[in-house]
Amino acid sequence: MIIAQTIAQVRQNITDARQKGKVIGLVPTMGGLHQGHYSLIRRCVEECDYTAVSIFVNPTQFAPGEDLKGYPRTFEADSEGCKDLDADLIFAPASEEIYPGQGTDPSDPLTWIHVEKVTSHLCGTSRPGHFRGVCTVVAKLFNIIQPDIAYFGQKDAQQLAVIRQMTKDLNFPIEIIGCPIVREKDGLAMSTRNKYLDSEQRKQALCLNKALKRAEEMIVAGQKNCQPVIDEMTKVIQQYPQAKVDYISIVDSDLLQPVTRIVPPVLIALAVQVGPARLIDNILVVPTDKKQ
Ligand code: PAF
Repeated sequence: MIIAQTIAQVRQNITDARQKGKVIGLVPTMGGLHQGHYSLIRRCVEECDYTAVSIFVNPTQFAPGEDLKGYPRTFEADSEGCKDLDADLIFAPASEEIYPGQGTDPSDPLTWIHVEKVTSHLCGTSRPGHFRGVCTVVAKLFNIIQPDIAYFGQKDAQQLAVIRQMTKDLNFPIEIIGCPIVREKDGLAMSTRNKYLDSEQRKQALCLNKALKRAEEMIVAGQKNCQPVIDEMTKVIQQYPQAKVDYISIVDSDLLQPVTRIVPPVLIALAVQVGPARLIDNILVVPTDKKQ
């Protein structure tokens, strides 16, 4: 497995692989890898001839005061994990490789990717500028690596929808694959930010999954209006003193616009601050005939 730190190195390796006729897959990450990431890498290795994993804590998607500085950096363990899964290349650039003027030139970059509408609710409201940073770095990674297929987790459902939209609008010839949420045995969605939780907060973090389960029960029992579901989910979260709701929303699954009636497919998404960790989770409610 190659560990590349420069764009030139990556381009050389990818060109060689492409000349051999290989299908290139990309798994973009910020490191701090867990079983959720490993499920994406596993799928990429299964479906593609060449798997590139990017590990880059992207500064432009963090607002001032967010956890850029403290974001887990576990490169040694991450690269071992990638190697064990048979990834072919890790792209782990320094910040200056991606943003050459950062720190010295405040006007870098001058070109940003902003996806409208899909970013107008959910995390787009609570984290202004976040998706602009995500899309800009993912577009850069797409241009540098030029994968045939790229893999993203459904846990960041809005990120997945935004990237699908960007890929379509900018005509990237890349297939975007969304992969299922991986959960701990007790239901907590895997996230790098779970590392911030102490043992009591870890217990309280189960409120996200509990609220989603309650929503599912209500929908199965026939509830068709969003507000009672949102109210009930809020009540569930309020039982956990260290949990503070950022948002609980029910949106259409395509452009992520709020809906008032539950007409599948809809996405039920929430963000909750638990102690130091801002956690997100979601479920996709699909039409009954599409259930597996
Ligand atoms: O999901 C992430 O880890 C990041 O947002 C991504 C897609 C790697 C862009 O920095």
